[in-house]
Amino acid sequence: MASYYHHIAALLCLIAFTSVVAAADNDDGGSTLGASYIFGDSLVDAGNNNFLPTLSRANIKPNGIDFKPSGGKPTGRYTNGRTIGDIVGEELGQRYYAVPFLDPNSTGEAILHGVNYASGGGGIMNATGRIFVNRLSMDIQIDYFNITRKQIDKLLGASKAKEHVMKRSIFSVSIGSNDFLNNYLLPVLSIGARVSQSPDGFVDDLISHLRSQLTRLYQLDARKFIIGNVGPIGCIPYQKTINQLNEDECVALPNQLAVQYNSKLKDLVAQLNDNLPGATFVHANVYDLVMELITNYAKYGFTTASKACCGNGGQYAGIIPCGPTSTLCTDRTKHVFWDPYHPSEAANVLIAKQLLDGDKKYISPMNLRQLRDLDH
Ligand SMILES: *[C@@H]1O[C@H](CO)[C@@H](O)[C@H](O)[C@H]1NC(C)=O
Ligand SMILES: *[C@@H]1O[C@H](CO)[C@@H](O)[C@H](O)[C@H]1NC(C)=O
Ligand SMILES: *[C@@H]1O[C@H](CO)[C@@H](O)[C@H](O)[C@H]1NC(C)=O
Repeated sequence: MASYYHHIAALLCLIAFTSVVAAADNDDGGSTLGASYIFGDSLVDAGNNNFLPTLSRANIKPNGIDFKPSGGKPTGRYTNGRTIGDIVGEELGQRYYAVPFLDPNSTGEAILHGVNYASGGGGIMNATGRIFVNRLSMDIQIDYFNITRKQIDKLLGASKAKEHVMKRSIFSVSIGSNDFLNNYLLPVLSIGARVSQSPDGFVDDLISHLRSQLTRLYQLDARKFIIGNVGPIGCIPYQKTINQLNEDECVALPNQLAVQYNSKLKDLVAQLNDNLPGATFVHANVYDLVMELITNYAKYGFTTASKACCGNGGQYAGIIPCGPTSTLCTDRTKHVFWDPYHPSEAANVLIAKQLLDGDKKYISPMNLRQLRDLDH
């Protein structure tokens, strides 16, 4: 069962990460990350939805075409290569990619290198993503971590387990986009939310749910957190196509909602840092980071920030999701967006770089390398 991950490790070792992996071999907790426990939506799902009866799936070609460990086969990642979660884990010295919780391979020692609970279509609210029939919402993702937490106790014994979770693990949370795209902004399916709630009321609800969700993780001994805000969801090829916008325009309402939520999220992160002793919550300003890539795409080597590399329909290939019959762009490194919704691996690499080493404009109060090295 474990050989898949050994295979990945072997490839990583040979191809790119020799020095990082060699350092991890000391396994002394020095400057290597033990594990990342990843919560969120399709931006970081690494295959959970493969195991759900759902309409939101990415284990179809040509997704994963640049994902070396699978030889270019789809894995369930909603991009052409690695997700931000994969890249950050590698760079921080984690030995294996965090394994999807629903994958039968997520047993035994594998879970000590990280587990991924993220699910395409998932959101903060239980009702979010109903359009896909099935997905793991944040409450359920945390229920699943509660199961993992007990397994870590069994593997390491209570005291070493606590130290592993508190000091050697990072908890990343990238959630919220679907609460707008696949809940609040879908009037028919979310009759409850949109008709009965003002944007203010809905945003407050999201923040209050997220507060209790993050507090539950804290109760399970999570101490090092990175919380991503919602990106400029009005600028994705899907939104730009259905609203027939010009290249340099974005749809106003989705971006306004994101900005409104993001402003309250920032306050929440500050409050949690004040109120939960021993915990460090790092805030990732994904919105400004992705907006910078979109606005100044040429500066970063892209030729378009509007058109999906893989997709079909309309001016920006933004209507029909990426699949075997999609038109595929000729150079995948030149597109900010892989498909109508998700960034390409090339964009993920640039985003991850800022999270790892960036300054307070994008990641505060410290970056992820500093968070990893923090010893409470
Ligand atoms: C799980 O491990 C088996 C055996 O190593 C491997 O063949 C399979 O592809 C893995 N499953 C997934 C979903 O990664
Ligand atoms: C969401 O669903 C979970 C699991 O079914 C449940 O425990 C939780 O209370 C629900 N949350 C809300 C806000 O309804
Ligand atoms: C974890 O699960 C146990 C039951 O096994 C439950 O009593 C506890 O409240 C759960 N903790 C959290 C934070 O959800």
